[in-house]
Amino acid sequence: MTKKLLILTGVIGITAAMVSCGDKRSPGRAYMPDMSYSVAYETYAPTAERLANSSVEGANPTFNGKPVAGTVARGDMAHYQLQNDSTGYALSAGIKSQVDFTTVNLKEAERLYLINCGICHGTKLDGNGPLYNDGNGPYGAAPKNLVSDELKKMADGTMFHSITYGKGQMGSYASQLNTKQRWMVIAYIRSKQGGGAAGAATDSTGAKPATGMATDSTATAKK
Ligand code: HEC
Repeated sequence: MTKKLLILTGVIGITAAMVSCGDKRSPGRAYMPDMSYSVAYETYAPTAERLANSSVEGANPTFNGKPVAGTVARGDMAHYQLQNDSTGYALSAGIKSQVDFTTVNLKEAERLYLINCGICHGTKLDGNGPLYNDGNGPYGAAPKNLVSDELKKMADGTMFHSITYGKGQMGSYASQLNTKQRWMVIAYIRSKQGGGAAGAATDSTGAKPATGMATDSTATAKK
Protein backbone atom coordinates (compact mmCIF):
# COMPACT_ATOMS: atom_id res chain seq x y z
CA MET A 1 0.00 0.00 0.00
CA THR A 2 2.67 2.48 0.97
CA LYS A 3 4.71 1.35 -2.05
CA LYS A 4 1.81 2.13 -4.40
CA LEU A 5 1.35 5.49 -2.75
CA LEU A 6 5.02 6.30 -3.24
CA ILE A 7 4.88 5.39 -6.95
CA LEU A 8 1.72 7.46 -7.39
CA THR A 9 3.27 10.46 -5.68
CA GLY A 10 6.34 10.06 -7.87
CA VAL A 11 4.31 9.97 -11.09
CA ILE A 12 2.27 13.00 -10.09
CA GLY A 13 5.41 14.84 -9.09
CA ILE A 14 7.22 14.15 -12.39
CA THR A 15 4.12 15.05 -14.41
CA ALA A 16 3.75 18.30 -12.51
CA ALA A 17 7.41 19.14 -13.07
CA MET A 18 7.13 18.44 -16.79
CA VAL A 19 3.91 20.38 -17.21
CA SER A 20 5.28 23.40 -15.41
CA CYS A 21 8.22 23.58 -17.83
CA GLY A 22 6.03 23.07 -20.88
CA ASP A 23 5.58 26.69 -21.97
CA LYS A 24 8.89 27.80 -23.48
CA ARG A 25 7.84 31.43 -23.83
CA SER A 26 7.29 31.83 -20.13
CA PRO A 27 10.30 31.51 -17.90
CA GLY A 28 8.02 30.72 -14.99
CA ARG A 29 8.51 32.15 -11.59
CA ALA A 30 11.94 33.73 -11.16
CA TYR A 31 13.51 32.84 -7.87
CA MET A 32 16.14 35.54 -7.22
CA PRO A 33 15.31 37.75 -10.24
CA ASP A 34 18.60 39.68 -9.92
CA MET A 35 20.37 36.58 -11.08
CA SER A 36 18.05 36.01 -14.02
CA TYR A 37 17.80 39.54 -15.30
CA SER A 38 20.91 41.68 -15.51
CA VAL A 39 20.68 45.08 -13.92
CA ALA A 40 23.79 46.18 -15.83
CA TYR A 41 23.71 48.62 -18.75
CA GLU A 42 22.93 47.25 -22.13
CA THR A 43 26.06 48.30 -24.00
CA TYR A 44 24.46 50.47 -26.65
CA ALA A 45 21.07 51.13 -25.11
CA PRO A 46 20.28 54.83 -24.86
CA THR A 47 19.68 55.99 -21.33
CA ALA A 48 18.74 59.42 -20.09
CA GLU A 49 22.09 59.70 -18.36
CA ARG A 50 24.07 58.98 -21.48
CA LEU A 51 21.98 61.32 -23.59
CA ALA A 52 22.68 64.07 -21.09
CA ASN A 53 26.41 63.34 -21.15
CA SER A 54 26.79 63.20 -24.89
CA SER A 55 28.88 66.25 -25.63
CA VAL A 56 29.22 65.79 -29.36
CA GLU A 57 26.26 67.32 -31.08
CA GLY A 58 24.58 65.02 -33.52
CA ALA A 59 26.75 62.11 -32.51
CA ASN A 60 25.35 58.77 -31.55
CA PRO A 61 24.61 59.51 -27.90
CA THR A 62 25.61 56.07 -26.75
CA PHE A 63 28.92 55.71 -28.53
CA ASN A 64 31.03 58.34 -30.23
CA GLY A 65 33.90 56.07 -31.13
CA LYS A 66 36.53 58.37 -29.71
CA PRO A 67 38.84 57.68 -26.81
CA VAL A 68 38.54 59.90 -23.79
CA ALA A 69 40.32 63.20 -24.42
CA GLY A 70 43.95 63.14 -23.40
CA THR A 71 44.28 59.36 -23.19
CA VAL A 72 47.14 57.63 -24.91
CA ALA A 73 46.80 54.15 -26.34
CA ARG A 74 49.14 51.62 -24.80
CA GLY A 75 52.49 51.83 -26.55
CA ASP A 76 51.55 54.97 -28.46
CA MET A 77 53.58 58.18 -28.37
CA ALA A 78 52.74 61.31 -26.42
CA HIS A 79 49.37 62.81 -27.14
CA TYR A 80 49.12 65.49 -29.83
CA GLN A 81 48.03 68.58 -27.96
CA LEU A 82 46.76 70.97 -30.62
CA GLN A 83 43.05 71.27 -31.15
CA ASN A 84 41.20 70.65 -34.38
CA ASP A 85 40.54 74.32 -35.18
CA SER A 86 42.14 77.14 -37.15
CA THR A 87 44.39 78.11 -34.24
CA GLY A 88 45.58 74.52 -33.93
CA TYR A 89 46.20 74.36 -37.66
CA ALA A 90 48.22 77.58 -37.58
CA LEU A 91 50.30 76.44 -34.61
CA SER A 92 50.92 73.00 -36.10
CA ALA A 93 53.67 74.42 -38.33
CA GLY A 94 55.83 74.73 -35.24
CA ILE A 95 55.40 71.09 -34.19
CA LYS A 96 58.50 68.96 -34.61
CA SER A 97 58.39 65.35 -35.63
CA GLN A 98 58.40 62.89 -32.74
CA VAL A 99 60.22 60.46 -34.99
CA ASP A 100 63.70 60.93 -36.40
CA PHE A 101 63.07 60.67 -40.14
CA THR A 102 66.55 59.30 -40.80
CA THR A 103 65.68 56.20 -38.78
CA VAL A 104 62.37 55.48 -40.47
CA ASN A 105 61.99 52.20 -42.27
CA LEU A 106 60.85 53.66 -45.59
CA LYS A 107 59.74 50.31 -46.94
CA GLU A 108 57.23 50.01 -44.10
CA ALA A 109 56.31 53.69 -44.45
CA GLU A 110 55.63 53.12 -48.13
CA ARG A 111 53.41 50.18 -47.30
CA LEU A 112 51.40 52.34 -44.90
CA TYR A 113 51.16 55.09 -47.49
CA LEU A 114 49.96 52.77 -50.22
CA ILE A 115 47.32 51.22 -47.98
CA ASN A 116 45.95 54.46 -46.57
CA CYS A 117 46.78 57.29 -48.94
CA GLY A 118 47.67 55.96 -52.37
CA ILE A 119 44.06 55.41 -53.40
CA CYS A 120 43.61 59.22 -53.49
CA HIS A 121 47.08 60.76 -53.60
CA GLY A 122 48.41 58.18 -56.04
CA THR A 123 51.38 55.84 -56.06
CA LYS A 124 53.43 58.71 -57.53
CA LEU A 125 52.15 61.03 -54.76
CA ASP A 126 50.97 63.41 -57.46
CA GLY A 127 47.43 63.66 -56.11
CA ASN A 128 46.01 61.59 -58.93
CA GLY A 129 45.20 58.22 -57.42
CA PRO A 130 42.58 55.86 -58.84
CA LEU A 131 39.80 57.37 -56.74
CA TYR A 132 40.35 60.78 -58.31
CA ASN A 133 41.72 59.83 -61.72
CA ASP A 134 41.86 63.33 -63.26
CA GLY A 135 38.37 64.04 -62.03
CA ASN A 136 36.89 60.96 -63.73
CA GLY A 137 36.98 58.87 -60.58
CA PRO A 138 34.22 58.56 -58.00
CA TYR A 139 35.95 61.00 -55.63
CA GLY A 140 35.09 64.59 -56.49
CA ALA A 141 37.62 66.58 -54.48
CA ALA A 142 41.13 66.85 -55.86
CA PRO A 143 43.64 65.35 -53.43
CA LYS A 144 46.75 67.45 -52.90
CA ASN A 145 49.79 66.79 -55.01
CA LEU A 146 52.18 65.72 -52.26
CA VAL A 147 55.30 66.36 -54.31
CA SER A 148 54.25 69.88 -55.36
CA ASP A 149 56.11 72.99 -54.21
CA GLU A 150 53.17 73.82 -51.96
CA LEU A 151 53.54 70.56 -50.08
CA LYS A 152 57.34 70.75 -50.10
CA LYS A 153 56.99 74.00 -48.20
CA MET A 154 54.36 72.69 -45.83
CA ALA A 155 55.77 72.04 -42.37
CA ASP A 156 55.92 68.47 -41.08
CA GLY A 157 53.67 69.50 -38.19
CA THR A 158 51.00 70.88 -40.51
CA MET A 159 50.93 67.66 -42.48
CA PHE A 160 50.68 65.76 -39.22
CA HIS A 161 47.82 67.98 -38.10
CA SER A 162 45.89 67.39 -41.33
CA ILE A 163 46.50 63.65 -41.30
CA THR A 164 45.46 63.49 -37.65
CA TYR A 165 42.28 65.53 -37.92
CA GLY A 166 41.54 65.48 -41.64
CA LYS A 167 41.40 68.46 -43.96
CA GLY A 168 38.52 69.52 -46.17
CA GLN A 169 37.28 66.44 -47.97
CA MET A 170 40.03 64.27 -46.53
CA GLY A 171 39.13 62.40 -43.36
CA SER A 172 41.17 61.78 -40.24
CA TYR A 173 43.68 58.94 -40.27
CA ALA A 174 44.20 58.93 -36.51
CA SER A 175 42.28 55.70 -36.08
CA GLN A 176 44.02 53.89 -38.93
CA LEU A 177 47.57 55.02 -38.22
CA ASN A 178 49.03 55.53 -34.77
CA THR A 179 51.19 58.57 -33.98
CA LYS A 180 54.43 56.93 -35.04
CA GLN A 181 52.95 55.60 -38.24
CA ARG A 182 51.63 59.05 -39.19
CA TRP A 183 55.11 60.54 -38.80
CA MET A 184 56.52 57.62 -40.78
CA VAL A 185 54.18 58.37 -43.68
CA ILE A 186 55.33 62.00 -43.60
CA ALA A 187 58.96 60.81 -43.70
CA TYR A 188 58.00 58.76 -46.75
CA ILE A 189 56.40 61.80 -48.43
CA ARG A 190 59.55 63.82 -47.70
CA SER A 191 61.72 61.09 -49.15
CA LYS A 192 59.76 61.31 -52.39
CA GLN A 193 59.77 65.10 -52.48
CA GLY A 194 63.51 65.34 -52.17
CA GLY A 195 64.14 62.97 -55.03
CA GLY A 196 64.76 59.92 -52.91
CA ALA A 197 67.05 61.06 -50.09
CA ALA A 198 65.57 59.54 -47.00
CA GLY A 199 66.46 62.08 -44.38
CA ALA A 200 66.44 65.06 -46.69
CA ALA A 201 63.67 66.82 -44.88
CA THR A 202 64.20 65.86 -41.30
CA ASP A 203 64.61 69.41 -40.26
CA SER A 204 61.67 71.74 -40.15
CA THR A 205 63.46 74.48 -38.27
CA GLY A 206 62.49 77.88 -39.45
CA ALA A 207 58.92 76.80 -39.96
CA LYS A 208 57.31 79.68 -38.20
CA PRO A 209 53.75 79.34 -37.01
CA ALA A 210 53.15 82.81 -38.43
CA THR A 211 50.01 81.83 -40.25
CA GLY A 212 50.80 78.20 -40.84
CA MET A 213 48.71 78.17 -43.96
CA ALA A 214 49.46 75.70 -46.68
CA THR A 215 50.46 78.38 -49.15
CA ASP A 216 52.46 80.37 -46.64
CA SER A 217 55.93 80.88 -48.04
CA THR A 218 57.29 81.66 -44.58
CA ALA A 219 56.92 78.02 -43.65
CA THR A 220 60.37 77.16 -44.91
CA ALA A 221 60.25 73.56 -43.86
CA LYS A 222 62.92 72.74 -46.35
CA LYS A 223 64.57 74.33 -49.30
C1 HEC B 1 39.75 59.80 -49.79
C2 HEC B 1 40.83 60.48 -50.44
C3 HEC B 1 42.07 60.79 -49.62
C4 HEC B 1 42.83 59.92 -48.88
C5 HEC B 1 42.64 58.42 -48.73
C6 HEC B 1 43.90 60.70 -48.31
N1 HEC B 1 43.78 62.01 -48.67
FE1 HEC B 1 45.08 63.50 -48.21
N2 HEC B 1 43.87 64.83 -49.15
C7 HEC B 1 42.73 64.53 -49.84
C8 HEC B 1 42.11 65.75 -50.30
C9 HEC B 1 40.82 65.85 -51.10
C10 HEC B 1 42.92 66.81 -49.84
C11 HEC B 1 42.71 68.30 -50.03
C12 HEC B 1 41.96 68.78 -48.79
C13 HEC B 1 41.65 70.25 -48.82
O1 HEC B 1 42.60 71.04 -48.80
O2 HEC B 1 40.47 70.57 -48.83
C14 HEC B 1 44.03 66.19 -49.14
C15 HEC B 1 45.07 66.90 -48.55
C16 HEC B 1 46.17 66.34 -47.95
C17 HEC B 1 47.28 67.07 -47.39
C18 HEC B 1 47.42 68.58 -47.32
C19 HEC B 1 46.75 69.02 -46.01
C20 HEC B 1 46.74 70.50 -45.81
O3 HEC B 1 46.93 70.91 -44.65
O4 HEC B 1 46.53 71.25 -46.76
C21 HEC B 1 48.17 66.16 -46.91
C22 HEC B 1 49.51 66.42 -46.24
C23 HEC B 1 47.59 64.86 -47.15
N3 HEC B 1 46.39 65.00 -47.78
C24 HEC B 1 48.20 63.67 -46.81
C25 HEC B 1 47.54 62.45 -46.81
C26 HEC B 1 48.09 61.23 -46.24
C27 HEC B 1 49.46 61.11 -45.61
C28 HEC B 1 47.15 60.27 -46.39
C29 HEC B 1 47.19 58.84 -45.90
C30 HEC B 1 47.38 58.69 -44.48
C31 HEC B 1 46.03 60.85 -47.10
N4 HEC B 1 46.30 62.17 -47.32
C32 HEC B 1 44.89 60.18 -47.49
C33 HEC B 1 42.22 63.27 -50.06
C34 HEC B 1 42.67 62.10 -49.47
